[in-house]
Amino acid sequence: MDKLLINTLQTPCFLLDEKELGRGINEFYRSLKRHFAHCIVGYSVKTNSLPYAIVKAKDFGCFAEVVSDDELDLALECGYKMNEIIFNGPMKSKARFLDALKRGAIVNIETHRELAWLKELPSDGLYKIGIRLSVNISDVSLEDAEGENDFSRFGFNDETEEFSNALETVRSIPHVELVGLHIHRTSHSRSVRFYKRSVAYAASVIKKYHLDLDYLDVGGGYYGIFRNAPTFDDYVATIYESLQKQGLEKLAIIVEPGNALTASSFTYYSQVIDVKQLPDCRILTTDGTRNDIDPFFHKNGYMTEINRANESGQVVPLQIVAGATCLEYDQLFRLENQQEMEVGDVIEYKNVGAYTLSLTPMFINYFPRVYSLSSDGLKLVRDKWTAKEYIQKSNI
Ligand SMILES: Cc1ncc(COP(=O)(O)O)c(C=O)c1O
Repeated sequence: MDKLLINTLQTPCFLLDEKELGRGINEFYRSLKRHFAHCIVGYSVKTNSLPYAIVKAKDFGCFAEVVSDDELDLALECGYKMNEIIFNGPMKSKARFLDALKRGAIVNIETHRELAWLKELPSDGLYKIGIRLSVNISDVSLEDAEGENDFSRFGFNDETEEFSNALETVRSIPHVELVGLHIHRTSHSRSVRFYKRSVAYAASVIKKYHLDLDYLDVGGGYYGIFRNAPTFDDYVATIYESLQKQGLEKLAIIVEPGNALTASSFTYYSQVIDVKQLPDCRILTTDGTRNDIDPFFHKNGYMTEINRANESGQVVPLQIVAGATCLEYDQLFRLENQQEMEVGDVIEYKNVGAYTLSLTPMFINYFPRVYSLSSDGLKLVRDKWTAKEYIQKSNI
């Protein structure tokens, strides 16, 4: 990013690139519309629950894909109508579940208790539901699986009698109609081959039970921007071909891309606040923390760019970039045989919008600022959370 603009940011902070978010959503829609008359891109709220991003995703044409009462309320607060919401997951409360069905949300059933609640819907209405089919990646596409038994704890399993029993329950309620199948799995490989096979599996189940559906919800799990990675066109063409083979290409398609839309839309900025010399290395303490961009502490690298005030410093053997907590292991990356960094230098971490802002713990430092950049310029879309926000709802 432009150096002048970087200098206006108060670090540590995230920056949302609105154009990039819009690009991803538009490209996914363009790919889907090439093949399908009816399609929905659901913004996966869990992947990035920044309210401003949720609102922007709606502006760009997304539905909100939510998996809890809190996420449902958040999407409604952000301006989505109930019939612009896809309500997934096993954690729906009875009240929200019934309300969402009555008000036209796309609801994909996950649990036995939801099946039981269906019986409480007023019999003078007609209620449309979807159901989640459990997908074992090892059975469907071994090459894309983690191990020999990459099962899912979500959805109803068709190897046991769970799926057929669930169908029977639904069919026994005259005012409830099964209109959709949900098959979300994120495979380790995110390969196109996995979608070819998982959609073929879904199609075989649709045929086996003679289901007359309106939609197939393929879920998320796609690559975003990486070079040499599959494109949205590649995924969608494969989904279409798998359905076409079974004469199911007229189904509406729902996708719920998380990573693919949000990762590349967010950058994180931190600044060197202190430099210490150890016998073997320089420690660069920064005001950002690994908690913000790697809350599970499992990443082994970042896409970084370093903005130095002084471009002519000497090259030093080893510098370690460390974070703003008191954890010894809050270390982000190493610079070997590179020009020394100084207090005030800014580090840019790209591609960090997925499962970061929604998972950041409030450990030592509360939520950082978030800016957004659009054709209107730079604006602050969430101020830093302070003790005031942290303390709210506490009785002290
Ligand atoms: C139901 C559902 N849909 C979509 C997603 C988004 O997945 P990804 O970020 O791999 O695209 C998830 C992620 O856990 C999910 O559980």
